[in-house]
This record gives sequence, structure tokens and C-alpha cells, in this order.
Amino acid sequence: MSGATIGFDDVGVRYADADGDALRGVSFDVASGEVVAIVGPSGCGKTTLLRTVNRLVEPTSGAVLIDGVDVRTMDAVALRRRVGYAIQAVGLFAHMTVAENVGIVPSLLGWPRDRIDRRVDDLLERVHLDPKRFRDRRPRKLSGGEAQRVGVARALGGEPGVLLMDEPFGAVDAIVRAALQDEVTRVVRDLGTTTLFVTHDVHEALRIADRICVMNGGRVEQLDAPAAILANPATDFVRRLFEGARA
Ligand SMILES: Nc1ncnc2c1ncn2[C@@H]1O[C@H](COP(=O)(O)OP(=O)(O)O)[C@@H](O)[C@H]1O
Ligand SMILES: [Mg+2]
Repeated sequence: MSGATIGFDDVGVRYADADGDALRGVSFDVASGEVVAIVGPSGCGKTTLLRTVNRLVEPTSGAVLIDGVDVRTMDAVALRRRVGYAIQAVGLFAHMTVAENVGIVPSLLGWPRDRIDRRVDDLLERVHLDPKRFRDRRPRKLSGGEAQRVGVARALGGEPGVLLMDEPFGAVDAIVRAALQDEVTRVVRDLGTTTLFVTHDVHEALRIADRICVMNGGRVEQLDAPAAILANPATDFVRRLFEGARA
């Protein structure tokens, strides 16, 4: 299973009750298997951009393409099973076990039981949770870091071509966070899953991403490899955002 490509083609979003645009003229392409971090200050449009991919937000103008197909032409439910989504408020189902949570999308896709079981164990191992210990546990018996790992495993359950992550590690402490950054990026790279990762933490972006998309006021300021952004910030805004990160 390899990653899908994502294309943003002059995407604009204006929310019905807002005066300004949340996104303006956003155009870039994400290659199969690429990990792109989206960074920028609060309110710059990171979450809005992410949500145009799984149609939780519909663009007011422009288009979003997955493997060259406009997402508007896809059934929203089918689309969301092809696009994994992991957020800070993990939202595990409390009445289900860890294995049931991770296996939700495969179940909805109608996979046979043994294939679901293998997928669940494989993903739990990939996020460093021993299946024997964690399969039958309830979410309330997990630490914050363990719950985030399960959230990522669940988002990857149905072998999605695209994974969207919105500040997934914002609520865990620095040491757990660093471990999660390394593990999760290793998992998506091993699986070849195309990943968009929203964060307001430039260090996190530098650590995990193939390329970083810097946003400001609903626009893309710069999209480049981490080293290129540090060496050649395109604007004063980018330079200031990454100041102090050149360690
Ligand atoms: N559902 C909504 N309705 C109206 N305005 C919204 C909504 N969601 C976000 N916004 C506005 O759109 C802009 C971008 O928000 P958002 O994408 O959440 O930014 P970020 O994730 O970078 O913090 C902000 O000005 C925010 O207030
Ligand atoms: Mg946000």
C-alpha cells in the first residue's frame, strides 16, 4: 500500500460568519509518501487546510485533489476511510477496547476478522504497544502518550493513502513527545503513507518533515525542505518564526 498524492489548487476558504478569508490562493503538491509539516501561528489556517482534504471543510474556491481526483467528486464517507485523521483530543471510544478502536475502519470496510486482527497487532507493534498487553485494555487505563499512540494506530487502521495529523502531540510532555515524533514518522515512512502534520512547534516540524509549509494569514509563505528554510527564509516572517531553531 503506497501513499496517495495530494494537490491543493488555488484553494480559498471563507467561513460563512467570518469577515476575512481563512485560506487564500493555497497551491502546492504533496508527493506519494512525503511527510509535510504545516506550521504557523494560531489562526493562520493550518487546521482549515488540513480539513479540506477530508472534506470537513469545503473550499470556497479552488480544488483539493487526491491522486488527481477532486475530493468533491468522492463520497465523503468513503473518502474519510481512505484518509486517516489523528487529532490532539484523541477521541478514543471509551466503551471499546484498544483493539476495537484500532480495528474500526477495517471493520467498516468489511475486512475478514483474521485480517483485522493481524492489522491491529501489526499497528500496535509499530507504535510500540505490546499487543498482548494493550489489545483488550480500555482507553481510560492508558497514559496520555499511550492514548496518542492508539489514536495514530487507529488513524492508520484501514491502510489509508493519506494521514492527516492536527497537533497530535500537543498535550503530552516533552520526553514522550520526542519519542512519539520519532516513532510516528518512522511508521508512516515504513508504510509509505503520505502525511500532513499540523503543528505550531517549529522544532517538531524540523524534526519530522521532508518539507515544511509555513503559513501566515491564510497564505503559504514558504514551502521547502527544513535545511532550506533555515538557510534561506523567504520572508522576514519565516526568518522570525525559525529564529533560534538553527541549533
Ligand atoms: N468553523 C469556523 N467558523 C468561522 N471561522 C472559523 C472556523 N474555524 C476557523 N475559523 C477561523 O479561520 C481562521 C483559521 O483558523 P484555523 O484553521 O483553525 O487556524 P489554525 O489551525 O492555524 O489555528 C481563524 O481566523 C479562525 O478564527
Ligand atoms: Mg488548528
